[in-house]
Amino acid sequence: MSYTPKMNESIQAVEATRQRRYAERHLRLSPEEKQRLLKEFHPDFRPDTMRPIKVGVSKGSVMPHELVDVLESRSRLDPDIFPLDKIDYDVDVLVIGGGGAGASTALMAHAAGADVLLVTKLRLGDANTMMAQGGIQAADKANDSPALHYLDVMGGGGFVNKPELVKALVYDAPLAIKWLEDLGCMFDKEPDGTMITQHGGGTCRKRMHAARDYSGAEIMRTLRDEVRNRGIPVLEFSPAVELLSDGEGTCRGAVIMNLETKEFFVVRAKTVVVSTGGFGRLHIDDFPTTNHYGATADGLVMTYRLGGRLVFLDATQFHPTGAAYPEQIVGLLITEKVRSLGAQLVNVYGEQFVYPLETRDAVSSAIIRECLEREKGIVTETGQPGVWLDSPMIEQIHGEGTILRSLPAMYRQYARFDIDMRKTPILVFPTLHYQNGGVDIRDDTSVTTVENLFVAGETSGGVHGRNRLMGNSLLDVVVFGRRAGMAAAEKARHVKPGALSLAHVSRYHKELDDAGITKDKVSPILLPPYARYQSVPGADPAV
Ligand code: FUM
Repeated sequence: MSYTPKMNESIQAVEATRQRRYAERHLRLSPEEKQRLLKEFHPDFRPDTMRPIKVGVSKGSVMPHELVDVLESRSRLDPDIFPLDKIDYDVDVLVIGGGGAGASTALMAHAAGADVLLVTKLRLGDANTMMAQGGIQAADKANDSPALHYLDVMGGGGFVNKPELVKALVYDAPLAIKWLEDLGCMFDKEPDGTMITQHGGGTCRKRMHAARDYSGAEIMRTLRDEVRNRGIPVLEFSPAVELLSDGEGTCRGAVIMNLETKEFFVVRAKTVVVSTGGFGRLHIDDFPTTNHYGATADGLVMTYRLGGRLVFLDATQFHPTGAAYPEQIVGLLITEKVRSLGAQLVNVYGEQFVYPLETRDAVSSAIIRECLEREKGIVTETGQPGVWLDSPMIEQIHGEGTILRSLPAMYRQYARFDIDMRKTPILVFPTLHYQNGGVDIRDDTSVTTVENLFVAGETSGGVHGRNRLMGNSLLDVVVFGRRAGMAAAEKARHVKPGALSLAHVSRYHKELDDAGITKDKVSPILLPPYARYQSVPGADPAV
């Protein structure tokens, strides 16, 4: 497969303007223009995409319909009869989630001397961390500083981010890079050993450290190997389906489910860390997603039932450059690094319409405007709109061989469809990428409203405000995963194990009843409805 004749015609227009555009820097948006653009075109501002939640500690907060649906659902367990007398695992620290945050947590808690158990829905490393491409930010160069990084994060987030979380993120960042390197993570370097760094959207310095365009896979490989090397117990295919409490607002463990046999197991823990990732596979506003199959908001659901307050969940991140063609890869991530290396965004006539490294919320809105309002996008034969990302510019700017060297995964993704991104532009449209908000935490990742419970990574909210910058997600999972491991291990030293209860779930069910919410929906959903697992007989809630 390559491009259709209509697309090839437009590509000629792109090629015709390339030389002129090469030297042309598109004007940056003023703050007023950016606000206007967001309000008019960002999906967050469409009134039909969200509604207020009717129950729980954040009752009245507005969130996407798809999220409210899973939050306003019943437990997989009947809390009034589920047996809690037999404890299957009794540990100091239970880590729920096997991505970058969970693995970092487990490593630090284990290093602090805690008896740790990590449970995960699929395999260790099956997570968004593994799929991350562009890189990880850290201000560790002479011309940069955590203070500049702080300003960029705040600016990207709309200046509403939780300041103490941002401070933790940027000040721990250089340490996070050093920790990963010491564990064996292979970042891209100059021949003299200097780290290669690039810009991301909204950054004032080049501080994006990468491993080609599979940075997340390299980081996850490193963390996963280390968890295995240290012999930390891991239960795979064992998602948590409910948190356990003392009957009030203190967390005491979790119920996990064997994904294959559907058996339930009780884990008692002195402290629990939830790091189950975000909600991408809920397909907010019907967008395709870059996310892992497991990203179904499980951690939000369980934490919310136990009283964890939710913040910034009315802000969803749509990555500007999801693949829009060919059909087989629609919605998959085209890393921002393609723009960091100089590729411009152009319309059907080969005109640049936005500065390519504005923050993601702005670039996505500009693409949506170009396609839907100005009608200057390209529409594929299946009706998918898109604009061109002029990738051949990269070779023109940095020399032949750059794409194969710096973007080998991207190159291969397109080569499979006979598209050579070194020679022809690629078609893109925004795709659902990240859950900006989540559970409200302190800077040691403890949940503000629940005792003995910690949340790290994408399940948490506040650090990125209303819009995360590129490379701050890999950083978030490592920085806050490490902090969670240390804090949960320390707290566990002072916790006495006690009786286990699901009374908080009974109370939540009563609230649902009182609000007149039907009983037909169950969560966490664990996998999206189109996953084959769902059709396995007996896959539905037991007990
Ligand atoms: O575009 C990207 O490579 C994505 C990076 C991120 O979300 O941090």
